[in-house]
Amino acid sequence: MAAAVTQAQVDLVSLNERRAQERTPEPTVVVIFGASGDLTKRKLLPALFHLEQAGLLPQQFAVMGVARRPLGDSFAKDMRAGITEFGGVKDGDAKLDEFMRKVSYHQMNFDEREGYIALQQSLQQIDQEHGTKGNRLFYLAVAPEYFADIMKQLGDHKMAQPEQGTVHCIIEKPFGHDLESARKLNDDVNAVFREEQVFRIDHYLGKETVQNILVFRFANGIFEPVWNRNYVDHVQITAAEEIGIEGRGPFYESAGALRDVIQNHVMELLSFVAMEPPISFGAEALRREKIKVWRAIQPINVEDTVRGQYGPGKVKGVEVKGYRQEDRVDPKSSTETYAALRLTIENWRWAGVPFYIRAGKRLAKRSTEIAIQFKQPPQLLFKDLSGNCSDIQPNIISMRIQPDEGISLRFGAKVPSPNMEVCPVIMNFNYAEAFGTNSANGYERLLLDAMIGDGTLFAHREGVEATWALLTPLLQQWADWKPTGFPNYAAGTWGPKAADELLRRDGRTWRKE
Ligand code: BG6
Repeated sequence: MAAAVTQAQVDLVSLNERRAQERTPEPTVVVIFGASGDLTKRKLLPALFHLEQAGLLPQQFAVMGVARRPLGDSFAKDMRAGITEFGGVKDGDAKLDEFMRKVSYHQMNFDEREGYIALQQSLQQIDQEHGTKGNRLFYLAVAPEYFADIMKQLGDHKMAQPEQGTVHCIIEKPFGHDLESARKLNDDVNAVFREEQVFRIDHYLGKETVQNILVFRFANGIFEPVWNRNYVDHVQITAAEEIGIEGRGPFYESAGALRDVIQNHVMELLSFVAMEPPISFGAEALRREKIKVWRAIQPINVEDTVRGQYGPGKVKGVEVKGYRQEDRVDPKSSTETYAALRLTIENWRWAGVPFYIRAGKRLAKRSTEIAIQFKQPPQLLFKDLSGNCSDIQPNIISMRIQPDEGISLRFGAKVPSPNMEVCPVIMNFNYAEAFGTNSANGYERLLLDAMIGDGTLFAHREGVEATWALLTPLLQQWADWKPTGFPNYAAGTWGPKAADELLRRDGRTWRKE
């Protein structure tokens, strides 16, 4: 006998359908400025194609790459190659041919009026061919020096506020170089686009494991009561990479680790770990809580910071160059490829709990992780009985953002023996095992959200300025006080010795796996 369908099931089906509809964007053309760069073929086109495969794009959809080089047909070929190579898609995939028919290229100089007139004409033609109704998602994947020109031209040509259609604009980092330049960039953008049209992308916010920090904290009842200074000893956030600067010498020379990943990715992670529960999972509510965390971080004392730069070494058994030997890098460069900071958040929840953060290139292992280390129990009952196992160790919740995505809890367990021996053991949740899937690259979710107009997982003007306000004084001090002794760590190690000292003086050590 077929089971009767209950009203609750009917409601659930219609709710899911409604949600699916709400998550399907309106007809749109995605217009990528700077489309000849690596990002487009490695991340953006594969992500858009994944959305197409999942049936999440509207029927009426098109992508237009815009760049200065006359690429002609080679653009589409290159994008197809990117989708297969970086998107894990088979070249014979039936949907790929269909998708590629929606991809076109427009060559222009970003500062020339005529280029925008021609661009508008091409876009109108696309509207006619693909039914995209004048809706645009501009994606600025260009070097910062082109930002102001593009913004001005989009404004002058009424492309940001057209009479017909909805326009959203995604901006890639860097969102400025310091507080002043970030403000200027935000002013340039907001002179043309309303803030709710602007989506500042930080691809970390698109990662499932990053979003899961909030789920872990706020969808479970047992963690939040201990998530504070009464129980937490300290927090460590690590963003360790094995890769070097990947041919991006000129960019990295002007950036360094603090600007490249700490101001954005690491600060976002920190805000997710430290924020108060927002009143809803909405853009405004989340933004408020994140800003409160950043503003509560105390001015950074330069003595609580460490800079490093890698010299030659071996990563996974392969000899690699030092930073100063990389292509288009000053052989006397003082740019940091590693940074470690000790931060304190002066609020009711976190007063007295240090947050140690570190990020670096050419380290021993790729690992982005947040570790919450808890205080020891008040009485170490089994201390003298713990036999061969090392000392009784504190509990740690470790959230592995990547790779090997998951969460683990370390706790002490009794070793099977006639004695009361205690040994640390790990309880582990692994994403791939639990859900049979590895999480996507992050751009899928963010592109979809920007098309829909959902800014929850994007950086906002105020937040960007708050993190720069915190880091700019440190950058100034670093600039005035050049490091000596660079390079100070060999590629393939865990960074400079001074970083270990930063924790040792507090009686702590970095996690090493
Ligand atoms: C980028 C930085 O924003 O993030 C790169 O510019 C860095 O230098 C990258 O390698 C790290 O991203 P992921 O997703 O590989 O951790």
